[in-house]
Amino acid sequence: MNKIRAAITGVGGYVPDYVLTNKELETMVDTTDEWITSRTGIKERRILKGDNVGVSVMGIAAVKDMLAKTKIDPKEIDCIIFATITPDLTFPATANIVATAVGATNAFSYDLAAACSGFIYGLNTGASFIQSGMYKKVVVIGGDKMSAILDYTDRTTCIIFGDGAGCVLLEPTTEDVGVIDSILKSDGAGEAYLHMKAGGSRLRPSHETVDKRLHYVYQEGSAVFKFAVTNMADVAAQVAERNHLTPETINWLVPHQANKRIIDATASRVGISENKVMMNIERYGNTTGGTIPLLLWDYEKQLKKGDNLIIAAFGGGFTWGAIYVKWAYNRP
Ligand code: UT7
Repeated sequence: MNKIRAAITGVGGYVPDYVLTNKELETMVDTTDEWITSRTGIKERRILKGDNVGVSVMGIAAVKDMLAKTKIDPKEIDCIIFATITPDLTFPATANIVATAVGATNAFSYDLAAACSGFIYGLNTGASFIQSGMYKKVVVIGGDKMSAILDYTDRTTCIIFGDGAGCVLLEPTTEDVGVIDSILKSDGAGEAYLHMKAGGSRLRPSHETVDKRLHYVYQEGSAVFKFAVTNMADVAAQVAERNHLTPETINWLVPHQANKRIIDATASRVGISENKVMMNIERYGNTTGGTIPLLLWDYEKQLKKGDNLIIAAFGGGFTWGAIYVKWAYNRP
């Protein structure tokens, strides 16, 4: 009998309506459209506006989009994993909120925190549930409301990130498609360069933590850049090589959207041309857990059954990795 693999059988996505352009950022911090475009490739990003709305709003919309397209009954979903570092609440998990809102009443659900690599960690975990034979329908969501943890007086971070969420449905198949191989890595030494100082159990929220602006993303950009550019490219090349994939047989590189220069370096290391690189950083910026499912959402119509995808990510932790996926369906 053929091995059970986990196929991606549906994709959903959501980005908020509000467009924060580089021009608007010029009025908020000391920056220019030219600097942001040339250093990052970003022109605009989406922001979730409104009071008392968290990342769940975007996760729910993404799952509803996927349900409408695949026409599956939400009661058939066994498990929902939400990869996010901006949950609605510290607890309960945002995945619980999403599951109830979409009618996935038979699912168990939990959040997964691996920053920008969260979606590929979730994809690997969800695929393992399917491959083990334990579950038949697993939804993996990746998304973040980064605007909730950004300091809009800090020009080194607020220009990079945006809000958005996407998701995939995983189902078993015995065909030669689906999640084929993965390499996942982490290194806690990365904490020094990319973290949020308060908001967890180490520093209680207090007037002092708020006054010192400790509830926002802290990043040493150029240090993170150096780690990202090497590690994301290396791991993408490794997963391609050990599956005997060549620049000719790889159909798509699906890279985390942190900086166009990191994306270009990864494409060049894997040896593939720009027309095979999924990219939407210019419109959405870095949505952390959302970048990869939002790429699949944007490019779904161009994907064909049997296409070889190398998905790669790098982020806070540090966390990084790459996954080889053979696409499982043609969209009409
Ligand atoms: O997805 C999670 C993982 N994160 C990443 O992968 C992010 C990786 N890092 C990056 O993408 C880049 O490092 C940044 C986009 C964050 C920064 O670009 P950079 O080319 O590494 O700039 P830099 O930090 O080396 O700063 C160069 C100069 C500095 O000025 P001085 O000291 O040379 O006078 C900065 O103060 O650019 C200045 N600068 C800015 N200038 C205008 C920093 N941010 C801005 C800005 N506008 N927004």
